[in-house]
Amino acid sequence: MEIKAVETTQWDWSGDALAIGFFEDAVEIAGDLAALNEKLEGTIAELIAETEFTGKANSSATTRVGSKSPIRKVILVGLGKKEELKLAGIRTSGAAIARLAKKEKVKTLGIGLPVVENEALTTQGLAEGVLLALHVDNRFKSEAEDKGAVLETVELLGLGDREAAIQTAEAIASGVILARELVNAPANAVTPVTLAETARDIAFNGGLELEILEKEDCEKLGMGSYLGVAQASDLPPKFIHLIYKPEGTPRRKIAIVGKGLTFDSGGLNLKVGKGIETMKMDMGGAGATLGAAKAIAQLKPDVEVHFISAATENMVSGKAMHPGDILTASNGKTIEVNNTDAEGRLTLADALVFAEKLEVDAIVDLATLTGACIVALGEEIGGLWSTDDNLAQQLKDAAELAGEQFWQMPLQEKYFEGMKSPIADMKNTGPRSGGSITAALFLKQFVESTPWVHLDIAGPVWAEKEGGINNVGGTGYPVRTLVNWVLG
Ligand code: BES
Ligand code: MN
Ligand code: ZN
Repeated sequence: MEIKAVETTQWDWSGDALAIGFFEDAVEIAGDLAALNEKLEGTIAELIAETEFTGKANSSATTRVGSKSPIRKVILVGLGKKEELKLAGIRTSGAAIARLAKKEKVKTLGIGLPVVENEALTTQGLAEGVLLALHVDNRFKSEAEDKGAVLETVELLGLGDREAAIQTAEAIASGVILARELVNAPANAVTPVTLAETARDIAFNGGLELEILEKEDCEKLGMGSYLGVAQASDLPPKFIHLIYKPEGTPRRKIAIVGKGLTFDSGGLNLKVGKGIETMKMDMGGAGATLGAAKAIAQLKPDVEVHFISAATENMVSGKAMHPGDILTASNGKTIEVNNTDAEGRLTLADALVFAEKLEVDAIVDLATLTGACIVALGEEIGGLWSTDDNLAQQLKDAAELAGEQFWQMPLQEKYFEGMKSPIADMKNTGPRSGGSITAALFLKQFVESTPWVHLDIAGPVWAEKEGGINNVGGTGYPVRTLVNWVLG
């Protein structure tokens, strides 16, 4: 499938299906639209009247046009109120149109939507929406029920030649799709070993540097916290450090650290009842980190980026850490593990210490860290904690542009009292209340002075239902935010 932006407007285009956007309560047949309506023998006016189409957001109407017409089908898309349409709405409209075109077996599609922000960003948003809505993950089906769209060309109308914007969208979509597929893959397909291989592929194809620390290397660095989690697994831990360096002097140096639990059984504090079967997604942070790396490798910004994940499984065996064990992290701090199911923070502790030693200007970690964050913010919104207002604002701006939602949460120092241990420097879990906040406070113990943002993405990495640009399963969240942040 080829996506391109063209000068041709929706009033002059011909092809299989034309999608036209309408603002709410501004559905009026006049001017250019009247001319097009006439060319289509009144079809647009009839469709609007018959379906009582008012242009409400997320509404659409589709019909077949007579076969002598230059267009075979028209798709009317509601954009909601004019003053409320943002780039995110453009992206989800692109997704909705792509889904309709797929259902209608359209081969050539023209999309005529208004410009939001500017032509380049509108083009990029539409292309991302189309590409991400049409992604189907059939890898584990012996025979695909959903064979994907038959679309051959998508033309984004009236936007001029926007080659660079299309390329950006394609690079970002490829990163989002990689993250989705890593999250979708079960724990017997994506393991610490295969995650490291994926990092190797990205490094090889994109010219990045790669360092994989084996268990012995991690021992030498004193990563007792990470290795405590890893010790019950039959699979070797892999500490992944992928490095993108621009040509010339980098504008800044940053680190992205993703939680990489390819399976979280809970350990001896075993996850009983519902929930354990979805814990293949506990490497969503690492998946998005690698997804971002894949996109960055293509986009080549003037920023040095370190992509880090302390990958492992959290398993049970005779070698497993006991609840109550005391671990020593690579910054010398000791941790009483009062719950082996709070393992993500244990792996991140050593990864954050490692990241800070690289003397980067900023660290962003992302983790499917707590069920408490889902309780607080629901499935669609990630939690954001930061020690640095400026960095927090950068991430919020990047997320806004990406159409990914985050809500800043407090680093309430007082709550760390709940993590005090009588025997070690801290426990790894506090009381049930404020569970995502104490998790963030725990991580903070492992970042000394580098500006840092923590993203809890336990909810939004996975979608139970298709909607917007997401299909059921891994969403690839927050690859787009990360990429925008790096580029910004
Ligand atoms: N991976 C889970 C968090 C999670 C839960 C992610 C649901 C996605 C969906 C994490 O390792 C975990 O088990 N957290 C515990 C912490 C608790 C023991 C303090 C939790 O949230 O219950
Ligand atoms: Mn856990
Ligand atoms: Zn976990």
